[in-house]
Amino acid sequence: MASRYSEVYAAWKADPHGFWADAAQAIDWFKKPERIFEPERGTYGHWFVDGVTNTCYNCLDRHVEAGRGEQAAFIYDSPVTHRIEKISYASLLADVKAMAAVYCKLGIGKGDRIIIYMPMIPQAAIAMLAAARIGAVHSVVFGGFAANELAVRIDDCQAKLVVSASCGLEPGRTVAYKPLLDQAIEIAGNKPAHYLIFQRDMLTADMLPGRDIDFAEALAAAKEAGEDVPSTPVASNDPLYVLYTSGTTGQPKGVVRDNGGHMVALKWSMENFFGVRPGEVFWAASDIGWVVGHSYIVYGPLLHGCTSILFEGKPVGTPDAGTYWRIIAEHGVAVMFTAPTALRAIRKEDPDASHAARHDLSRFRALYLAGERADPDTIRWAERALGVPVIDHWWQTETGWPVAGNPMGLGLLPVKYGSPAVPLPGYDVRVVDDAGHPVEAGTLGNVVIKLPLPPGCLPTLWNADHRFHAAYLEEYPGFYKTADAGYIDEDGYIFIMARTDDIINVAGHRLSTGAMEEVCASHPDVAECAVIGIADPLKGQVPTGFLVINSNVSRETAEIEQEVIGLVRERIGPVAAFRTAICVKRLPKTRSGKILRSTMQKIADRQPWKMPATIDDPTILDEVAAALRAKGIGV
Ligand code: COA
Ligand code: AMP
Repeated sequence: MASRYSEVYAAWKADPHGFWADAAQAIDWFKKPERIFEPERGTYGHWFVDGVTNTCYNCLDRHVEAGRGEQAAFIYDSPVTHRIEKISYASLLADVKAMAAVYCKLGIGKGDRIIIYMPMIPQAAIAMLAAARIGAVHSVVFGGFAANELAVRIDDCQAKLVVSASCGLEPGRTVAYKPLLDQAIEIAGNKPAHYLIFQRDMLTADMLPGRDIDFAEALAAAKEAGEDVPSTPVASNDPLYVLYTSGTTGQPKGVVRDNGGHMVALKWSMENFFGVRPGEVFWAASDIGWVVGHSYIVYGPLLHGCTSILFEGKPVGTPDAGTYWRIIAEHGVAVMFTAPTALRAIRKEDPDASHAARHDLSRFRALYLAGERADPDTIRWAERALGVPVIDHWWQTETGWPVAGNPMGLGLLPVKYGSPAVPLPGYDVRVVDDAGHPVEAGTLGNVVIKLPLPPGCLPTLWNADHRFHAAYLEEYPGFYKTADAGYIDEDGYIFIMARTDDIINVAGHRLSTGAMEEVCASHPDVAECAVIGIADPLKGQVPTGFLVINSNVSRETAEIEQEVIGLVRERIGPVAAFRTAICVKRLPKTRSGKILRSTMQKIADRQPWKMPATIDDPTILDEVAAALRAKGIGV
């Protein structure tokens, strides 16, 4: 089939407002928007300004009303608990209504913030959808974050309620969430008024009498009372959620998502980008703590009337490297989405893809990869193993849906390995030099998107308009700064090569080296430090910390290194995968005192590097190289 991509992209460019007004027809509105787009402050704008809607209604009620009630909304597949559960749209709606009633009884209403700190269980999605139903704003915190990170988020969004669970299950260990939550509450300046805790069989949490409420009991009581909580009409631009993501400091950025634009963009992407139809099974093997989980485990598939897989497990070890393929075959998955790192983990254990060959993958049509650069080698391996297109696509927490990718729904374009293909309608992607001037095709530069951003993208940061402008809009006037570096070739294919800031990508997780440096520097024996991401064959990148110890300290450096590693795990969380700290005498710097992180990274990655002309003392780089060699890193 010839691709309709060029025609559709041109139609958007010719009439962007008309294009999105048409797309908005696929959503149910209490009041249909007439004002499609209004720029604000001359730079960014709001979509569907006068529209009134509700995201939960669009995800659940309308499907049940249209006869989809018996279809599975979620298939919860949990190899770590050996449970598989199908949850129909009708029964999910009943649970969500009951949870909404619980929220209302606790005095939670429109605009109030609810922190959700939960593992990959259906109750997490119920908690999200119930918030959406009453117009409350949810903020999901990934389970791999430590108490301190949770506290920062509770404080920043001034949460009134926390929904959590007794534990999560990681291979080989049970993660007790409740002590982490209790610790976070101790640290937080803002103490939420209420706590709903879901008790799991494998570990029950101690409840604080008079404060903690049992999630399941409260839900059952609300169900018995039969309270029907209708969907609260919200303005299209009212916030649906805040999702915190790494910034350049220890203070994460609260990415705000609205209701109307978000729904319109996700619904459009399900059909036209991923090429799935209502009623089909869609699986994003991510976590609800990340944007992928928000957009493509919960909201996208439900808005589109699909069945979404809620997977509690890992690509390997739960129980083996065939889990993904077993799930695709068993549940008839049509389209799947995962991170390249997951495929690298599977390939490492099962290089011949013998597990894939044992399963019936005949209903499987495409595998989508995002979250980090998809290396061509991994893509080719997956294509051979699965016999379906393996499609790289690029986006960010901020955009909420893909910026670029090969659109299966419009007909695939020729593949260029190493490129997430072409910009999707809504996005005018350019590459500019540091002064903001356009560069020639094929030249590496800063990847920017011409304003306004399409529906679904962040309108601002939570309570931080100024930071929003400073981080994304000020450097290249008229453009949104992605903080990715890359190039666009003569055919308009985009190549995303690296970040331009201090964000690193560890197993598809976005982490701030700046935040890790803040933690390292807090160790009493550390005078100075630098954290860089170095290449890792499995995780893409892993952080490595360089520590300069105070001159009056005579302790063993190995001891200090271990303490700093422990500190990062304790303050940021295990997900940081911070396992290497190296004591050095000095850090290489420019004469103006800037630490030469990129040169250190090149040395560690065994890439060619040049002595920076502005270096203060070149011999320090030799010391760094020797310290890396002593740890078996670089050459
Ligand atoms: N709750 C608590 N801890 C968590 C967690 C969670 N939800 N998720 C991860 N962790 C912990 C892990 O247990 C591990 O702890 P450890 O140091 O005690 O072993 C640490 O965080 C690092 O975890 P992870 O990044 O998962 O590394 P891993 O070595 O355990 O597994 C992979 C490697 C490749 C299998 C794994 O990273 C993976 O499945 N990646 C896919 C990533 C993905 O889907 N990303 C979503 C973006 S699209
Ligand atoms: P996150 O906000 O966690 O989704 O991370 C977004 C960042 O991950 C992007 O800015 C990129 O640096 C990186 N990223 C995501 N997808 C891709 C991709 N397909 N290719 C290259 N980098 C990617």
